[in-house]
Amino acid sequence: MRITSTMAETRHLYGDAPVGLVPTMGFLHEGHVALLEAARAECGTVVMSVFVNPLQFNEVSDLEHYPRNLERDVELARDAGVDMVFAPSGEEMYPLPVATVVSVPSLAVRMEGPSRPGHFDGMATVVTKLLAGLQPDRAYFGRKDAQQLAIVRRLAVDLSLPTAIVPRPTMREPDGLALSSRNVFMTAEQRVSALALSHGLMEAADAAEAGERDARLLERLVWDVMAAAEGVDPEYAEVATVRDVAAVDELSADSFLAVAARVGPVRLIDNVHFEVDAGGIVADRGIPLERPSVLYSQDPQSAEGEHDAARS
Ligand code: PAF
Repeated sequence: MRITSTMAETRHLYGDAPVGLVPTMGFLHEGHVALLEAARAECGTVVMSVFVNPLQFNEVSDLEHYPRNLERDVELARDAGVDMVFAPSGEEMYPLPVATVVSVPSLAVRMEGPSRPGHFDGMATVVTKLLAGLQPDRAYFGRKDAQQLAIVRRLAVDLSLPTAIVPRPTMREPDGLALSSRNVFMTAEQRVSALALSHGLMEAADAAEAGERDARLLERLVWDVMAAAEGVDPEYAEVATVRDVAAVDELSADSFLAVAARVGPVRLIDNVHFEVDAGGIVADRGIPLERPSVLYSQDPQSAEGEHDAARS
């Protein structure tokens, strides 16, 4: 496995086989590893990028406290069969002050958009740079960040980028909690309360698969489960189309039901995807790990204060 720091050097090492890219901000957990394994199964060359992108942080302190451990990430990447870890400097990614911003405003206006101004522009800009600079055939993104995924798919189409965007299911703890490096900041009690998000979503998925198409009713169902849980402060429960992140009254196209809630010091997000076809509705509920995640670890700096959804 090679560690590279420039896009030119990375491209130079490609052979003839299809190249799969897994973009990350490092500090890997099992969700990232599942993306690496999917890329390994489908591509001849697998590149993982590790870059903590300053453009997508709303608060300087969040960026400063973002956990980093490149050495551990490199080990995990090696174990997952990655060929190259592309770990660029800020200068490689942004050699000049940024004058070109990629923005997909209509898809960023709801859900996460209002609480994280500028976040999706920063994310879309760096993802576009990675796709343009590394020129992968396929790029892998988790469905946990459903709105991010929708924006990336849309920018790839709108900008005619030749990379296929490959969505992968959300990875969950055995009890259903979606994997997030922020989970370690909850107490054992808060961790139990946080299960309201996945429980509510699974109830909504059951209802949808049983034929319920009323989006308001599904939103209300998961909202009520969250609101009834001690210590959970729900922020939104919304159904949106995958293509436009637009509200719908009835599930009739591929869509997702996404939620955000505060639990103690953390803001959590989660969702289920609905594929709607002539045969009915199939929910992608994510994949539970067989054993509890072991890849989280708490670094003392980021253990203080609030922990926002900037961490996947
Ligand atoms: O999901 C993430 O880790 C980041 O938003 C991404 C896609 C690597 C862009 O910085």
